Amino acid sequence: MPRLAFFGDLLDFTADPGFAAPGLAPGVRHRPEHWLLVEDGRIVAVQAEAPGPDWQPVRHPGRLLTPGFIDTHVHAPQLDVIASHGLALLDWLETYTFPAERRYADPAVAAEGAVRFLDALLAHGTTAAVVFPTVHAVSVDTLMAEAAARGMRLIAGKVLMDTHAPDGLRDDVEQAERDCRALIRRWHGHGRLAYAVTVRFAATSSRAQLAMAGRLCAEEPTLYMQTHVAENTEEVRWVGELFPEARSYLDIYHRHGLLHPRAVLAHGIWLDAEDRALLADTGAQIAHSPSSNLFLGSGLFDWAGATEAGYRVSMASDVGGGTSLSMLRTMGDAYKIQALRGTRLSAWKALHTATLGGAEALGLAGEIGHFSPGCLADLAVWDWACGPVAAHRDAIACARPTGPQHSPQAALHERLFAWMTLGDERNLVETWVAGVRRHGGSAAAGLGG
Ligand code: GUN
Ligand code: ZN
Repeated sequence: MPRLAFFGDLLDFTADPGFAAPGLAPGVRHRPEHWLLVEDGRIVAVQAEAPGPDWQPVRHPGRLLTPGFIDTHVHAPQLDVIASHGLALLDWLETYTFPAERRYADPAVAAEGAVRFLDALLAHGTTAAVVFPTVHAVSVDTLMAEAAARGMRLIAGKVLMDTHAPDGLRDDVEQAERDCRALIRRWHGHGRLAYAVTVRFAATSSRAQLAMAGRLCAEEPTLYMQTHVAENTEEVRWVGELFPEARSYLDIYHRHGLLHPRAVLAHGIWLDAEDRALLADTGAQIAHSPSSNLFLGSGLFDWAGATEAGYRVSMASDVGGGTSLSMLRTMGDAYKIQALRGTRLSAWKALHTATLGGAEALGLAGEIGHFSPGCLADLAVWDWACGPVAAHRDAIACARPTGPQHSPQAALHERLFAWMTLGDERNLVETWVAGVRRHGGSAAAGLGG
């Protein structure tokens, strides 16, 4: 493997900027016109001086380099139903999603879908993801094999659903357990892959199946767990009817041993104070899915309440409830949701959540999410602006004089916020995974340039 030296404007985080004013936020690490040195796929140094001739330059002057994005909740088969009109969660599942997922019983459909999905993640600057395939074991095998071929950090598992689902999408407890155990043996800890015990949501699993899922987590604490919780008021009411013994929707998972530091629960909009304390106590995280929450009309996530309660929040596209794999668009939607709640999310906080924050929430900060020596070189190269409107806005941000009213950090934030709000995958120039280019690349910016 060549020794690579990436040149550009490096931006990452050393700590959570929180909800501090943009000019005062802690944890921002901006290293313009720096070199990121990569050996055997790992970051070994960051420096201002050009390295010697035994380093192969990857020059991106004037471009932004960020850690590859981490999407903590996304459905691979739902590229087939992204942007489907007119329905809220439960009707959307029944009308669009379940029929599409049934097709993944066919190994050819699953294989094709895995390739399309992973290449699409890379084409949006996302290098790590926590993914729902389908109930079919073959959908996990194809997804994991294709992720391994791309060197990606992927966390996924067979979807468990043994009730309230149509024919062709239901398993049973015994077969599901056999499938899970075989898939865990095959994929958990294989390269950069990890297995997630994947409960679709409480409504589609029997108590016996939830108990089985909890046993798997207890037997092997390095497993992840992923599910949905408290997304939509109609769903919350229905789940309450199905599990009258539980104090709350979240409590169903707690009773079955499914809440722990490796648990990733999507949405968490309709939680009460006791639920929030339970998330903090167990170390479980909420995968905030703003695009999906707006598109399906589910509700406005209380991020300030999450921070107050002390539980972790990561950033997720939730395609196909969400309408874009772009984490820039996802961050833009997060800003709008918080604006409706009276909180102004900074681009620092949003970008931190999609990089270092996500890595920390998944226990992966030793490997991804920031540009520190020892981390794998998962990174994305961005143009600051794409198209005349964004270019105009970027030029205005660059030209603004700095001073006591507008510190250098506030000035950079102005630029970054416009990038986040106006940008998407069209701004992406290249995506690298463990020091290998997996998307983009042109002669002008290529190796040896
Ligand atoms: N709840 C249960 N299944 C799903 C799903 O596929 N998408 C979303 N957004 N919510 C769910
Ligand atoms: Zn989802």
